[in-house]
Amino acid sequence: MKKIALIFGTRPEAIKMAPIYIALKRSNLKPVVIATAQHREMLDQVLELFRITPDYDLDIMKNRQSLSGLTSRLASALDEVFSSETFDFALVQGDTTSTFMGSLISFYHKVPVGHVEAGLRTMDIYNPFPEEANRRLTGTIATFHYAPTDKAMENLLREGIEKERIIVTGNTVIDALLWTLENKRKEVLEFRHTLGIEEGKYILLTMHRRENWGVPMREVMKAVKDILAEEPGLKLVFPVHLNPVVRKVVYEELKGHEQVILLDPLDYLPFVSLMEGAKLILTDSGGIQEEAPALGKPTLVLRKTTERPEAIEAGTAKLIGTEREKVVKETLKLLGSAEEYQKMAKAVNPFGNGKAAIRIVEHLKNELGV
Ligand code: UD1
Ligand code: UDP
Repeated sequence: MKKIALIFGTRPEAIKMAPIYIALKRSNLKPVVIATAQHREMLDQVLELFRITPDYDLDIMKNRQSLSGLTSRLASALDEVFSSETFDFALVQGDTTSTFMGSLISFYHKVPVGHVEAGLRTMDIYNPFPEEANRRLTGTIATFHYAPTDKAMENLLREGIEKERIIVTGNTVIDALLWTLENKRKEVLEFRHTLGIEEGKYILLTMHRRENWGVPMREVMKAVKDILAEEPGLKLVFPVHLNPVVRKVVYEELKGHEQVILLDPLDYLPFVSLMEGAKLILTDSGGIQEEAPALGKPTLVLRKTTERPEAIEAGTAKLIGTEREKVVKETLKLLGSAEEYQKMAKAVNPFGNGKAAIRIVEHLKNELGV
């Protein structure tokens, strides 16, 4: 059986690789999971939900890891795996350091690479940082580019990649989301009731991006308090990323606020529950920008740029940055205008129909002649 190395390390990569793992398991190709564990707890949450047991767990996460430290640990740990076993193909997903290093070490061992979620671009190398560079570097190495949308394909064509090597598939996050909504409906509905929050009476917030560390994050936390002061009936639910840099600012600013519920990162299922029940979402996450249109959930994006313009064009998401006054103004405007709100809630999901993983595996089977 031909062997496909699936290399991933963080929460979003695991969520988006899970449907591919499941599709490979049902095919005549053999997935070999190489979990770098760039994230530890947040990765394990996903592995458990989708019942993925890594064949290799590199366990490389360190507290407050630097980009360079992470990169060098990834290089040696991945090199050991590729020196001990041969693979017919490797798949990496997205734009993390695990993605880039997974593609680089595969290349060093002459294993062809497929890049899942290829072609997203902001055209600003520092935004998001370092993800824009990771994505472009991975694109340079990849043999096949699994682009989620036509727009992503166009970005790749502009960079001179041959059309035959680009396959438009939709985003596998929609596969994972639809699977969760269809198969775990009862658990999804139950979770938000256990928190004692009312449907549509809370904002869901997540924030973790490196370029937002420090002042931008603090500004948003202050904005949130301004918003809650204007809306006494409203709550804010914030599952806080485990990064200590993020947690420090968030807990300093929001701990003890009576309208705020601070949580540890949630398993995917409860998180989907919270997205579905929220009035609106404030986030700097990439994946959530893709899930929001599928859930019809108005989303204000706390970033300067986005590599997911499809969500903005569809109308579900709006880019608002991180300035305190702007965040307050835009959020209150959305809360106060039924017309604006409905317009955003009605948008159509541009990220696919839940069949992305199957398309990727079918393409691989064809290419590998099995
Ligand atoms: C990483 C990715 C980012 C992605 C994000 C998803 C890079 C450079 N960054 O950013 O693209 O959007 O994951 O969440 O690839 N930590 C834990 N436990 C965990 C996870 C993280 O304690 O399960 C803490 C550790 O102290 C770790 C720190 O968070 O050193 C930062 O983790 P890291 O993966 O370097 O960066 P993220 O900000 O999570
Ligand atoms: N998510 C989750 N639990 C949480 C917060 C987010 O399962 O507490 C999911 C979310 O639904 C999305 C993914 O994690 O699928 C996004 O991860 P993150 O925001 O960390 O990374 P990004 O997408 O920005 O790279």
